[in-house]
Amino acid sequence: MSQNTDFVPFAKPSLGLEEENAVLEVLRSGWLTTGKIAKAFEEEFAAFVGARAALAVNSATSGLHLALEALGVGPGDLVVTSPYTFTSTASVARHLGAEVAFCDIGADDYNIDPDKLEALLERSPQVKAVIAVHVGGLPCRMAELIAICTRRGIALVEDAAHAFPSKIPAPVLASVGKAEADGTFAGTLGAIGVYSFYATKTITTGEGGMIVCEDEKLVRRMAMMRSHGFDRDAFDRYTSKTASWYYEVAEAGFKYNLPDLLAAIGREQLKKASRFLEERRNIARAYDEAFGPGSPAEELLELPPHGAGPFRAAHSWHLYSLRLRGPIAGRRDEFFERLMQKGVGASVHFIPLHIMPYFSRRYGLAPSSFPEAYGKYLRTISLPIWHGMSDTEVERVRLAVLETAAELAACTPRPRTRSGFGGGEA
Ligand SMILES: Cc1ncc(COP(=O)(O)O)c(C=O)c1O
Repeated sequence: MSQNTDFVPFAKPSLGLEEENAVLEVLRSGWLTTGKIAKAFEEEFAAFVGARAALAVNSATSGLHLALEALGVGPGDLVVTSPYTFTSTASVARHLGAEVAFCDIGADDYNIDPDKLEALLERSPQVKAVIAVHVGGLPCRMAELIAICTRRGIALVEDAAHAFPSKIPAPVLASVGKAEADGTFAGTLGAIGVYSFYATKTITTGEGGMIVCEDEKLVRRMAMMRSHGFDRDAFDRYTSKTASWYYEVAEAGFKYNLPDLLAAIGREQLKKASRFLEERRNIARAYDEAFGPGSPAEELLELPPHGAGPFRAAHSWHLYSLRLRGPIAGRRDEFFERLMQKGVGASVHFIPLHIMPYFSRRYGLAPSSFPEAYGKYLRTISLPIWHGMSDTEVERVRLAVLETAAELAACTPRPRTRSGFGGGEA
């Protein structure tokens, strides 16, 4: 539990003596960059999620780039993802000369809609890969996505930047034969899965990420492209006991490795991941109780999607994204400002990519091109949810949200201010 401060930030990492000592050990070891600590982190992460191989990288963005490169994505190809995501999910396709085709999200969550995906694939034969984003940590409808992509021979990549550790319950995956008795980790189901350890994520290394993959050939390609296209990595090159000065550059690769300094933090965070999840679940529960059925603000606030049926247990609760409704539906920006004035940090996930100047211009998209994504964006606000939040801080957020909702409902509705890029009505 952290100390109560005046301002409750939107996100805050939870780092202890364990992380400090692990970093000190690396500092004193004489080996700072990628070496045996990064290797150990990879092995421990792979064991945690039940993956055959894991590759540590310096960000999820790098991981997604490596994933598409290994899958052979290039000029003339289309990569499908939803506009309800962070820019790197889509920009990595552009880095490889491929084009992006957006597919709208579903009515019940913030994730790509399998039915709309099927219709899009029907009319787009050039699609090489689909990137499914588990927004906020609630897994996509993976069984349907796997079936659709397998039928068409399209690679399915999981952007699991938010989804560690989200577990998909067995009944949901029975039809695709990937069910584990106590759930399967989101990120381990597609051809390649990529997690983020950015500073606000569910475990962090400051900057960092992890790729998981079952296919040895893809793993070898990504490992090589992660390190300049070398035929061996720097760790071998400098510490191997055998003659090791020689290497060959097999491809024009990238520099996407995770140094031991950061991997040391990741190993300690990984040990705490299950406890962190439990804490975030408790916060989500406390928010649900305050804003859900029976709450004075029930008519004004819509709880984040939890997933139906067995999916309810799957969430990593990286984000707790409420939606405003009723008379306050169009007043998200004011809601945000008032929360900040009350000492509560908040954020908006996501400003959809199709209204970002780059993507909107390149593909001729209007806000209405993806009505679910745009409509949800206008009403959504993400609240603080981080392990280490004290009960007092959770209570402050609950009260600030309830007060703000009541204040806005009490004053005469005014036309809403233009919001971000594009504006529009809820
Ligand atoms: C959905 C999603 N994908 C990818 C990324 C990129 O992660 P990173 O900052 O580790 O590159 C983010 C970052 O926030 C994200 O939210």
